[in-house]
Amino acid sequence: MNAPEAWRHLEPKIEAVGQRIRQLEWDSSRRNNFVPYTADGNTPYVMLDGERLLMMSGYGYIGLNGDTRVVAAAKAAIDEYGTGTPGVRALAGTIPLHEELEEEVAHFLGRESALVFSSGYAGNVGTIGALCGPGDTIFLDKLDHASIVDGAQLTGATLTRFRHNDPGHLDRRLAAAEPGGTRLVIVDSVYSMDGDIAPLPELREVCDRHGALLMVDEAHALGVIGATGRGIEEHFEYKVRADIKVGTLSKAVPANGGWIVGSKPFMDYVKRFARPFLFSAALAPAQVGAALESLRILDREPERVTYAQRESARFRDIVKQAGFNTADSETAVVPLIVGSDQNAWDYASALRKAGVIGLPVISPAVPPGLARLRIAITAAHSRADIDFAIDAFVSAARQTGLLS
Ligand SMILES: Cc1ncc(COP(=O)(O)O)c(C=O)c1O
Repeated sequence: MNAPEAWRHLEPKIEAVGQRIRQLEWDSSRRNNFVPYTADGNTPYVMLDGERLLMMSGYGYIGLNGDTRVVAAAKAAIDEYGTGTPGVRALAGTIPLHEELEEEVAHFLGRESALVFSSGYAGNVGTIGALCGPGDTIFLDKLDHASIVDGAQLTGATLTRFRHNDPGHLDRRLAAAEPGGTRLVIVDSVYSMDGDIAPLPELREVCDRHGALLMVDEAHALGVIGATGRGIEEHFEYKVRADIKVGTLSKAVPANGGWIVGSKPFMDYVKRFARPFLFSAALAPAQVGAALESLRILDREPERVTYAQRESARFRDIVKQAGFNTADSETAVVPLIVGSDQNAWDYASALRKAGVIGLPVISPAVPPGLARLRIAITAAHSRADIDFAIDAFVSAARQTGLLS
């Protein structure tokens, strides 16, 4: 087969993507994806093409990105351990700081032991792969994150989806499943594109009745929900527990990496069966240092969490009053649902002209017709920043015909 012939099946797909990009982004002012923003220190602002713009779609929920203490900890880790890790964790890649971070993660999240992965994505793929294989059944919420779906698909287990945040539907799915094998139910604690919270008590009750393990992904819950940012169990006042808790070090914690917490024997097991842990280089020293310092700050400064919780509730009330659809959001993640992909793109582009970045999320990341701007209120946003953003959201929506 000659080279052009070998590309024959891919060319229409590549052309379709090119066409879609041209349809949405016909000039640089309409670029809303893969944009190289420069952070403006420890502020919620970014620099782009000489302009200072207010970022309203970042992950830094507790306002620590660029914090001088976190930056100093990352630099100190580089000074002591260098820029890379000379291997995977099982061989030459483990440094004392990895173990210190794992102790801190376990302590912060109220479990005996923890492991850190090189990303949250790797953590999900590794954990699910260690838990399930052919002959097992995995039950996924319809809106579970892609890393959960991918991890589940790789296991060779039977996969079943249940309706979003619907324990009754999960109950029916569990009742209908083949008996035998491990039954694993996986949910996001906070859904990253909707900002709603998994109904943990009801899910726990259903799982217990059917002998299923319950795993939660705390990526957008750590530092966001619970009185001190400890996630979904704290949010439900520790009345129920998840069997397996995983999360990331890349959202509220401004680093990279993923984590899992549990008993020491369980962590010893995961260490030997999670393939991304075994076969991918260890988390780099700077990331470990930054994550460790951020968790210590979060522990000492819970007011960062309560501030973002209070301000996101205020933000949500105001934008709802103004006529926006924020779906079932009840956290710092607030979607502004605008309908078509084109609407979302037009709206984001108009917002940028008003000095605010609100990034569009379009299909297939969300169902067609439910395109949105994914807004996140963080501890870095002052009340004045949030009020400035609200004015921009409303005026750009009027200008683009989304609000009258
Ligand atoms: C719910 C959820 N889980 C896992 C991940 C992956 O985390 P990371 O970006 O650290 O790989 C994300 C990232 O967006 C996420 O939203």
